[in-house]
Amino acid sequence: MQPPEESEAEMKSSTSGKSVEEFYDKVASCYEIISNGRNHDALMIAYATILLNEGLAGKRILDLGCGDGEGTIFLADQKFTVVGVDLSVDMLDAARLRTGASKVDFIHSDICNLPNLDPFDAAVAIDEPLANLGNNYDIISAFTNARGALRKGGLFVFDLPTIHSNKIRTGMRHFGDLDNIFFAWRGSKVPGSPTAAHLQVDIFLEGEDSSWTRLNGGATYRHIAPRLVENMLRMTHFSMKEIFCFKNGELFENREERHADKYIVIAVAE
Ligand SMILES: C[S@@+](CC[C@H](N)C(=O)[O-])C[C@H]1O[C@@H](n2cnc3c(N)ncnc32)[C@H](O)[C@@H]1O
Repeated sequence: MQPPEESEAEMKSSTSGKSVEEFYDKVASCYEIISNGRNHDALMIAYATILLNEGLAGKRILDLGCGDGEGTIFLADQKFTVVGVDLSVDMLDAARLRTGASKVDFIHSDICNLPNLDPFDAAVAIDEPLANLGNNYDIISAFTNARGALRKGGLFVFDLPTIHSNKIRTGMRHFGDLDNIFFAWRGSKVPGSPTAAHLQVDIFLEGEDSSWTRLNGGATYRHIAPRLVENMLRMTHFSMKEIFCFKNGELFENREERHADKYIVIAVAE
């Protein structure tokens, strides 16, 4: 892998930022509905379990790519002190409307260009926000920013898609008809990126006068090999502690990502 072209001082926001922001802004008001059925409850429990097992009960957690705040508030409900960060103003607005949102501070920022914050004991990136970053320079930039937000010895826990789950995503056809919302997800391959997947969603919202509004957009999910992740962590002053696999809502102590839905990395700030 080539070293990043930018020095830390010249770090820019993520290359994918504008398109990712537009997509999540568009779907924010119904994100919870259109993204149901993805084992998110089990994933949040897995994160809380990892943090508690690492002795971090009650500690300060930074939730990177917090989206509409479901995981952020879940962690606050487990008595962690949590700050959520996201690029999408509309996802953050949806987060602030959730019950329990007053327990959390939400900040609008690109995770590749975080403001100065008091040091955290752990940073998390739940449900693949890092897979939305456009290239490995952005990943290095996000890792550098996560490292800058952590105290020495702090933990960085994040999940990424496996080759297997991205392959399934490329063929995904998922339709839902709930609460006056009809939506259709369709997956496709990404030309030139054999392990990435693109998901396109069309959403039809029924108004009070029975008229329909259509929204549509898409996001790309990159696969990054665990060995490459480990190299990029080392470059950004983390050491890899453990990799878990996550499959059908359960955590496995196994580096074999072949059949898993996600892999979850635990790294330590040096
Ligand atoms: C799949 S959602 C996950 C949201 C949340 N963590 C959860 O578990 O529900 C990904 C989120 O990451 C955010 N995101 C993607 N790239 C980002 C970036 N460069 N900076 C900040 N947030 C980003 C998106 O706006 C979106 O809200």
